[in-house]
Amino acid sequence: MVPPGGTAYARAVLTCGNCGRESPDDFAFCPVCASPLVAPVEPHEVRKTVTVVFCDVTGSTAMGEKLDPESVRRVMSRYFSEMRTALERHGASVEKFIGDAVMAVFGVPQIHEDDALRAVRAAADMRQALILLNKELERDYGVTLAARIGVNTGDVVAGDPSGETLVTGDAVNVAARLEQAAAPGEVLIGPKTLRLVRDAVVADPTEPLELKGKSEPVAAFRLVEVMAGAPGVARRLDSPMVGRERQLSQLRRAFDSVVADRSCQLFTVIGAPGVGKSRLMEEFVRGLHGRATVLRGRCLPYGDGITFFPVGEVMKEAAGLDDFDAPEEIERKICAVLGDGETDACARLAQLFGVAGHDGTTDETLWAVRRFLESVAQSAPLTVVFDDVQWGEPTFLDLIESIADRSRDAPILMLVMARPDLLDERPARRQAERGHDLARAAVRRRVRRADRQSPRPRGAPRRGQDQDPQGG
Ligand SMILES: Nc1ncnc2c1ncn2[C@@H]1O[C@H](COP(=O)(O)OP(=O)(O)O)[C@@H](O)[C@H]1O
Ligand SMILES: [Mg+2]
Repeated sequence: MVPPGGTAYARAVLTCGNCGRESPDDFAFCPVCASPLVAPVEPHEVRKTVTVVFCDVTGSTAMGEKLDPESVRRVMSRYFSEMRTALERHGASVEKFIGDAVMAVFGVPQIHEDDALRAVRAAADMRQALILLNKELERDYGVTLAARIGVNTGDVVAGDPSGETLVTGDAVNVAARLEQAAAPGEVLIGPKTLRLVRDAVVADPTEPLELKGKSEPVAAFRLVEVMAGAPGVARRLDSPMVGRERQLSQLRRAFDSVVADRSCQLFTVIGAPGVGKSRLMEEFVRGLHGRATVLRGRCLPYGDGITFFPVGEVMKEAAGLDDFDAPEEIERKICAVLGDGETDACARLAQLFGVAGHDGTTDETLWAVRRFLESVAQSAPLTVVFDDVQWGEPTFLDLIESIADRSRDAPILMLVMARPDLLDERPARRQAERGHDLARAAVRRRVRRADRQSPRPRGAPRRGQDQDPQGG
């Protein structure tokens, strides 16, 4: 059998990349969904930059003396499963287990721009997972495990035609050596990995390590902490601004009409990485000179429960939520922003932060977020900046549109920044379609505004309230 879109040597069948139906290999189109059938490509060797994670347990021999073999096997299988989960959550290919060791590669089969940061986050998660697992092992078997972890980035050769190994190269050896040099419980990071994650981690340099097989000592760093949500390398946004006058004046005009009409406008900025989207936003925000409340949220490329992550950031900033706030405190702070008579919206939003309550529908959550932003916008015009929206989940894109479409009597400028991927055709079609909607929404809103003869007076009845799941 040939995996969909994957690689294999057997050519007896072709698997449709669209519906998964298998067909004889002389068919040009899928007989079920009529998609073109493409012959799988033989794996070929490629050079790529990946980040390798090695993890090994210490003390498993001593455990072998204490426990019967069946228990040792159960303990080790729990350990492997926890490590695999932590690694795969961040997108690793977990390659093989040598003895009790786990090796994982970030960048195979798919390269990500943040592979090094994913690897370091995974290493931190593995360490945390082991702390929790040890409580369970201590209780059930009277033993605990300690792990040593090495993380290293470098060029490797991937696509071994024999299929025996995913990657080979010096970077793999160094990762293994770093793991061996780490103390139990320690994560050691190689120098190139550190360069790629420097703004997201706290790490202490060790003495340069003499590693077996390396002629020169290798600089290594002991991982202390990884900051949630931080990019690996922060961009400098303080160099003098060049050009962009036209875009800046478009943004200023959008803001002025938001204020004059007390309405919501969606402004989408699409551009390739590094073209200057964030810089343009910063320049615009700086030019507001405190005339608006500015709230920021960023979409994450992957992870559990990321749909409302950018909204969470915006709400934290607006309500002054702290990571250590108790549930009642979170609810109280959110209610304080929303004002009186908004208990339903408050309960719904508190749920986003894990405060227990009745589970609401997605529509109710979108409605509650809109009420929240409208409340914030009552004291001063509000600018909400959402960055990296090409990674936004479909529900999050729905949220942006529903706020833009339904918000009334509140001056809100929503600035959405995204890479062109947002508009690309890609396997997750729905997301691409939402992307098109988003771009059109921006244009549509500007046209609608140009048509309008006079701004709607303050306090005029709000349209569209009847569509609110909670009656407004
Ligand atoms: N108009 C500009 N003038 C000066 N520097 C700029 C300008 N636009 C972008 N830069 C710089 O280029 C780098 C990348 O820009 P950035 O806004 O982070 O790109 P994006 O958000 O599109 O990925 C940053 O260091 C930024 O300061
Ligand atoms: Mg940016």
